[in-house]
Parts: sequence; structure tokens; C-alpha cells
Amino acid sequence: KKCTAIVLSAGQGKRMGSAIQKQYIELSGKPIIFYTLDAFQKSAIIDDIVLVVGEGQENWVRDEIVEKYQLTKVRSIIPGGKERYDSVWAGLRGLHALKEQPEYVFIHDGARMFVDEQILTRGYENVEKFGACVAGMPSKDTVKLVDEDQFAVNTPPRKLIWAVQTPQIFKADLIENAYARLMEEVPDNITDDAMVVEQMMKVPVKLYEGSYENIKITTPEDLEIAKVFLAKRKEKYHK
Ligand code: CTP
Ligand code: MG
Repeated sequence: KKCTAIVLSAGQGKRMGSAIQKQYIELSGKPIIFYTLDAFQKSAIIDDIVLVVGEGQENWVRDEIVEKYQLTKVRSIIPGGKERYDSVWAGLRGLHALKEQPEYVFIHDGARMFVDEQILTRGYENVEKFGACVAGMPSKDTVKLVDEDQFAVNTPPRKLIWAVQTPQIFKADLIENAYARLMEEVPDNITDDAMVVEQMMKVPVKLYEGSYENIKITTPEDLEIAKVFLAKRKEKYHK
């Protein structure tokens, strides 16, 4: 069944604090967003890609990323918005311009450059079964809920705590309806797509195994970790 990826690359990267947006920082001579897009480009699961970028960056990204690295599955490059959910909404509206509508939509953070074919394959299997699923991993840390004064209120059992990643994968009509409803309201505290489906549609979202390497490049130390992961990957390919 047809699978389209919406890859988000419209964020400012405030927590990284770099002069350029974090997704365009180069590692081993290529920008982070290249590695992310290349995983989808090479995937047997993914048919095409809608890329969401900062307003006014469409032409630059087309020339310097998509054409330069021959990312031929990128069908359109569209401007995002202020919040992540604005960018997702822009991406979802961008789907209508595709010649063939997807059955499944894979929403993915451009800053998660270590997504791989195994994660995409498990995602496909899970969305076929459940209609809505997100990659994640069991929390390695004990997590506490705190009050406004930073006192511990509650300690949920660790085996029930998962940290969620992307891709977050949905039947196309489900995620489009969920976001259409969200955008009729004033969204508040929306940090992922599963929340939108949980809250707007009351549909259960399955968590499936991503990987501990599928990190989101967020703060400067993540760049150091990414260099190690990249070096390891290169070693593997040369064997
Ligand atoms: N994103 C987006 N549009 C936004 C905000 C975020 O497309 N308005 C994208 C980012 O480019 C990133 C992904 O969503 O690939 C996850 O967001 P996050 O890690 O929070 O990135 P930023 O918002 O760029 O970083 P920060 O929150 O530190 O400013
Ligand atoms: Mg952000």
C-alpha cells in the first residue's frame, strides 16, 4: 500500500543554539537532513516524500539538498509554520497535491537522522495491524511527575514508561481528520502526533520498538553522540 513520508525540517533549533538551523549542520561533510532523507529515499517501504521547510527556504533546500543529493522521492517542498503541529498540518495539506493519495502517512522529525529500514519495516507492519503507531523505546531512567515547586508527586512504574520517537505512522484519513479537528481549536501543549489522534479521535495508538540510536539531535552533546553513531555505521558499510 502506498506510503508517504512527511519529513519536518522547519524548526528553529533554539536548544542547539547554533548559527544555522541544526538540521543543516554538517557531519562527515553532509547535512543532518541529508541522512534523514536518505533513509526514506533508500527505503523499500516509502513511495514518496513531502518535505516541510522554513518559509522562504524552499528554493535553497531544493538546490542545495534535494537536487544536490538526488533525493528523487521528494515530491514537494513546502513551507511549515511556527509550531511543529503547524508544520505537520502544512505537510498534511501538501498531500493533496500528490498524484496518488497515500494509504499510510509516516510523520518524521528531520532531526532524527538515524531512522533505518528496520524501524520503517516494523512501522509498516504495525500500522497495517493497528492503523496508528509510533516508534519508541522503554525509558532507561525512572521518571517522576513533579509539582510546580519541583517536588516529586508520583513515580509511575518504569516498565510502563516509554520515550516516543518518530516515525509516527497513521492511516491517512485518520491523521488528516485528527489534525483538521485540532486546527479548529487553539492547540496547547501538543508535542507529538499520537497525542492529536488520542485526544481528537479517541483512537488507540500502538507503540512499537524504534531503537536507542534513533535519537533526535536537540542539544550540542547530541552532535557528539551522532558522530560516534556515524563512525560506527561507516565501519559496518566498509566491511
Ligand atoms: N519542526 C518543524 N516546524 C516547527 C518546529 C519543529 O518542522 N515549527 C521540526 C524540526 O525541524 C525538527 C522536528 O520538528 O526536525 C522536531 O522538533 P525539535 O526537535 O523541537 O526541533 P526545533 O523546534 O527546531 O528545536 P527547538 O525546539 O530546540 O527550537
Ligand atoms: Mg521544537
